Amino acid sequence: FSRSFSQFLSQSQLPSFGIAFDIDGVLLRGESPIGGSPQALKRLYDSSGALRIPYIFLTNGGGFPESKRALELSKLLGVDISPLQVVQGHTPFKQLVNRFENEFVVAVGKGEPAAVMAEYGFKNVLSIDEYASYFDGIDPLAQYKTWTTKQDAKQSSTLEQMRTRDSVHSQRVQATFIVSDSVDWSRDIQVLSDILRTGGLPGREIGHQPHLYFANDDLAYQATFPSERLGMGAFRIALESVFNSIHPNALEYTSFGKPNPFVFRNAETVLKQLVPSIHCGTNPVDHVNAGTHHFKKLFMIGDNPSVDIRGARQAGHPWFSILTRTGVFKGTENHTEFPADLVVNAVEDAVEYVLSKER
Ligand code: G3P
Ligand code: MG
Repeated sequence: FSRSFSQFLSQSQLPSFGIAFDIDGVLLRGESPIGGSPQALKRLYDSSGALRIPYIFLTNGGGFPESKRALELSKLLGVDISPLQVVQGHTPFKQLVNRFENEFVVAVGKGEPAAVMAEYGFKNVLSIDEYASYFDGIDPLAQYKTWTTKQDAKQSSTLEQMRTRDSVHSQRVQATFIVSDSVDWSRDIQVLSDILRTGGLPGREIGHQPHLYFANDDLAYQATFPSERLGMGAFRIALESVFNSIHPNALEYTSFGKPNPFVFRNAETVLKQLVPSIHCGTNPVDHVNAGTHHFKKLFMIGDNPSVDIRGARQAGHPWFSILTRTGVFKGTENHTEFPADLVVNAVEDAVEYVLSKER
């Protein structure tokens, strides 16, 4: 009796809501916190620093493993963030590991794209930086590019010795993953076109197109510059347009990230998984079954109407969308095509609203 009574008490004190925060344009611009984000997040912890409201970061960005991103976000935002709370555009690539575990795949983008894939369990992955370095002259503009690219630390030590130029040349690339924003569009569009039109063997004759996955399809996002910057969706348009002009069949690809409804369903699952670590009073409610916990409301706080707000609207109940004016959206009223349930100036106002409504 006493156990079920205490369980009833704890369950009734448990928050019946959770929050998903977009990162770029809501919490950060580049590496700088915006909209009072550190103070807003601090309100989701108790005085001892224990988490009291389930929340996650639901970003289309990426480039680093979730564990590394959690550490970086903890430093920038001044709260203790667990890797479980970090859901990035490329996080769903994890689910493709069964299909490509031992296949030769190429990972593209800023940061450490190959380390991201290796952490998900892909065993035969090269970054496009390393891959391109095995093909002399593949980028005819390389000599004019004065920057140097840092190769993924994890890759070089374990796989480098095993690989010879010949083995890379003779292995068919089975899939390409755009993990994060391409750093060098001209080189990446050239090398990806080579891989995709030849069936994964650059320099050879035309072959069946290998799989192509994008972590998101954001046309634009908010960084430090006052107006939006071109995102992965813009890179996709450029690659697709070039590919379709040089190849008889249209480019085939799959894009992940918001606004896809499965991203919001997965976000709900992850938020439920956080419930057992939530502190009610002094103790974590570790006997609560995460699977059966029921959220009455889930808040998506975002800056991009066509991505964050559209996604939350499509996901439907229990999602409630809050649009900030600190990023892509800069209007005074609501967005006309994808209106949010609430528009606020900044993330601190959004958190204030959520806590006042749901206490
Ligand atoms: O590259 C990042 C951008 O596309 C989106 O990031 O946090 O606004 O979803 P976020
Ligand atoms: Mg954003």
